[in-house]
Amino acid sequence: YADRGYTVIGRNETAARRLPHVLIIGAKKSGTRALLAFLRVHPSIRASGPEVHYFDRFYSRGLSWYRSKLPLSLEGQLTVEKTPAYFTTPGVPARVKMDLPSCRLLLVVRDPVTRALSDYTQSLSKHRARRPFEEMAFVKSSPGLVNSEWGPISGGLYARHLQRWLDHFPRSSIHVVSGENLIKDPAAELCRVQEFLGLRRVITEKHFFFNVTKGFPCLVKREKSGRPHCLGSSKGRSHPEVSRETYNILRDFYRPFNYKFYKMVGQNFRW
Ligand code: A3P
Repeated sequence: YADRGYTVIGRNETAARRLPHVLIIGAKKSGTRALLAFLRVHPSIRASGPEVHYFDRFYSRGLSWYRSKLPLSLEGQLTVEKTPAYFTTPGVPARVKMDLPSCRLLLVVRDPVTRALSDYTQSLSKHRARRPFEEMAFVKSSPGLVNSEWGPISGGLYARHLQRWLDHFPRSSIHVVSGENLIKDPAAELCRVQEFLGLRRVITEKHFFFNVTKGFPCLVKREKSGRPHCLGSSKGRSHPEVSRETYNILRDFYRPFNYKFYKMVGQNFRW
């Protein structure tokens, strides 16, 4: 049994590595780790820790490899995997549809201008000596023209990325989480997520406290240690300052894409 990824843990309960019932597909730097950390509090949720990147990077390794990266779960529990690169990688929606046809999808979104700065901040932390944000965000020969090919900018074109998912999945299988509200009122966002997943409402206000030093909500108890838990220092970093002018150009650039996205999801985020 152990060889096949099964562990017998009780007379009637067999733990197995099941393919995901739920994917957190993105958007990168919008609060995807916070959503996963909060969801894990629920006894009916089992989740992989690191991002597996099966559908974007390691697809050729096959489903048994994917399964081996997923946690043991009991029947009735939902397996969740989060890889934010799924949202923006062409070809991924078709693969997910083929391998996990009834999968439910969670998408966290945040003001694309702030998201771009967060994405850039993350890349600064990974590679030293990067060029300034403003140099990257605009086309070299035409100052003021936004470089929509640059990852931190293109990652926030939510309508474009979502359309690829809607070509394969019905709107009803995608739930959109507000990244801003996940910080302001995590219990309310988690209430909606639990409802969407058909879970009992277990995660409530009493699971969160606001850590003033970190400036973010944290968990009163982590699911494993039972101790208070805030996300690590790579979550909630300060961003480089950009000029008001840059900010306004980016805001204008994203406006039509944002409106299209609000229409597609039936929700106005007021970015
Ligand atoms: P910043 O680090 O730029 O502030 P992701 O997990 O998708 O990479 O998103 C990271 C972002 O999650 C952080 O971006 C932060 O703003 C946001 N976030 C939302 N809830 C958080 C929480 N409870 N603790 C820390 N960061 C949180």
